[in-house]
Amino acid sequence: MSNNLLKGKRGIVFGALNDMSIAWKVAERAVEEGASITLTNTELAIRMGTIDELSKKLNAEVIPADATSVEDLEKVFAKSQEILGGKIDFVLHSIGMSPNVRKKRTYDDLDYDLLSKTLDISAVSFHKMIQVAKKMDAISEGGSILALSYVAAQRTLFGYNDMADAKAMLESIARSFGYIYGREKGVRINTISQSPTMTTAGSGIKGFDGLVDFSNRMSPLGNASASECADYCIVMFSDLTKKVTMQNLFHDGGFSSMGMSLRAMTQYNKSFENDFKDENGNIIYG
Ligand SMILES: NC(=O)c1ccc[n+]([C@@H]2O[C@H](COP(=O)([O-])OP(=O)(O)OC[C@H]3O[C@@H](n4cnc5c(N)ncnc54)[C@H](O)[C@@H]3O)[C@@H](O)[C@H]2O)c1
Repeated sequence: MSNNLLKGKRGIVFGALNDMSIAWKVAERAVEEGASITLTNTELAIRMGTIDELSKKLNAEVIPADATSVEDLEKVFAKSQEILGGKIDFVLHSIGMSPNVRKKRTYDDLDYDLLSKTLDISAVSFHKMIQVAKKMDAISEGGSILALSYVAAQRTLFGYNDMADAKAMLESIARSFGYIYGREKGVRINTISQSPTMTTAGSGIKGFDGLVDFSNRMSPLGNASASECADYCIVMFSDLTKKVTMQNLFHDGGFSSMGMSLRAMTQYNKSFENDFKDENGNIIYG
């Protein structure tokens, strides 16, 4: 259902890979709410994924770009303004990848070149994106910039690895740049900390199925879906949140405020023995 919350607004959506991607749902909802948008992802993701399908459906042009390349980002902002006919009102950063996770390097055996890549792709790209936009004066007064984060920025979760450090940095960038861009141009910068969600990036995390189930049992409202995340993004892009900036906004069904729930405790008690063994059956002490 459309409430025309983004009527006449122009946006850029980074990170739609396939129809499971959170960015895919955000792009669909943004257009439904009256926005015109461009889409962007890496050349490889464009080839491997199904973004062209989304592009056709939404009549939104795809601009190939590696979000770690300042030059590519300059192209994205220049072309988007040209295509959409003016300054940009909202930007979604929906980008995350850890080569250490991919290569199954554990947190106490990180490859540091890969750690640099994790941080560059998943956090510094957010800074680059905002710095490029600001230098080009590509965002309209009162515009809204969002990135997607995860509670591992504040709390330690098994298997999230160096992505936890990337998310902590991402949220810090939102605060540091939010101050400057807000002060100078009234541009809002926030992060939304989303529940674990079954996507290509999500399912790369070790033990992801168990994490999804655990979060769901722990959260009074249950896990937030990708579509529900898209709804929250729309509100943050809209004029209904003009004075919200420099925040990390939890969109997790209440998970981040919980310690233990009855549903999680019940399951824990049922599988008490197994919970203290790893996948090889070795006993793990707390
Ligand atoms: N899925 C979850 O459980 C979950 C939970 C909280 C936050 N998030 C965050 O949501 C965001 C979107 O992830 P998703 O779950 O929709 O998965 P996804 O795999 O669909 O999206 C990740 C995107 O990052 C893109 N990307 C990777 N390297 C890039 C680069 N160098 N330049 C440009 N784009 C690049 C990929 O092509 C892909 O489109 C990520 O920041 C992720 O950390 C996901």
